[in-house]
Amino acid sequence: MKDKRVVITTAIILIIIGSVIVSQVLEKRYDARFTRVFLPPVDNPLYEAECASCHFLYLPGLLPAGSWTRVVDGSQRHFGHELGLSDKVREELKAYLVANAAETTGAKRSGRILDSLKGATPLRITETPYIDKKHKAIKKIIYGREAIMSFSNCIACHKTATEGNFKEANVKIPR
Ligand code: HEC
Ligand code: HEC
Repeated sequence: MKDKRVVITTAIILIIIGSVIVSQVLEKRYDARFTRVFLPPVDNPLYEAECASCHFLYLPGLLPAGSWTRVVDGSQRHFGHELGLSDKVREELKAYLVANAAETTGAKRSGRILDSLKGATPLRITETPYIDKKHKAIKKIIYGREAIMSFSNCIACHKTATEGNFKEANVKIPR
């Protein structure tokens, strides 16, 4: 009777240890090309000064280098706004954004964005297939809520977006 209990307990413990090891090995293989979970936060005062007055300061790791080049080169016609940047500021912004674009972060979600783009360089993060797909379940009318106003307003729902953390646990859609 006692022996049987010992055998069962040992078997259960072995199964638990075994499944932990297997899941870690699988996760590692799956994520071999990713070196970090979250996107690197912004650490550039010029980018913050020039690009955060109208909307969330998008993390460079959310778009490929080619998109950032297009966004900055097109800053005279930026979604209906003329940003009035000098040549010098444009070059500095481009250098920072390209050096920290999705290709460089090693973050899983940058990788997913790049994979979904297949070489395309859209002006919007919200038009990348991966980001679009992740939000398919959200009804368009929700984006019109006063506390959100736009799908592009990541920080309204992703409370830790500034830290590069887009985990589901930290999402809260405002009412
Ligand atoms: C004068 C206001 C203003 C400033 C300053 C500004 N933007 Fe924007 N930006 C906009 C507007 C308006 C949109 C469209 C937002 C929307 O559709 O809700 C936008 C959208 C974007 C998007 C696409 C967001 C999406 O939908 O995925 C990116 C990327 C972007 N801006 C980058 C920048 C960068 C880089 C800078 C600094 C060089 C900058 N913005 C400065 C007004 C501004
Ligand atoms: C109206 C609220 C809302 C807005 C605005 C929003 N999201 Fe989301 N986002 C969500 C919800 C809800 C999910 C689904 C959570 C899940 O299943 O992981 C999600 C999922 C994601 C995911 C996938 C997370 C994962 O672990 O699979 C990423 C990445 C993401 N959003 C990035 C963005 C970016 C970047 C922006 C801005 C350009 C944005 N979101 C704007 C609500 C929002």
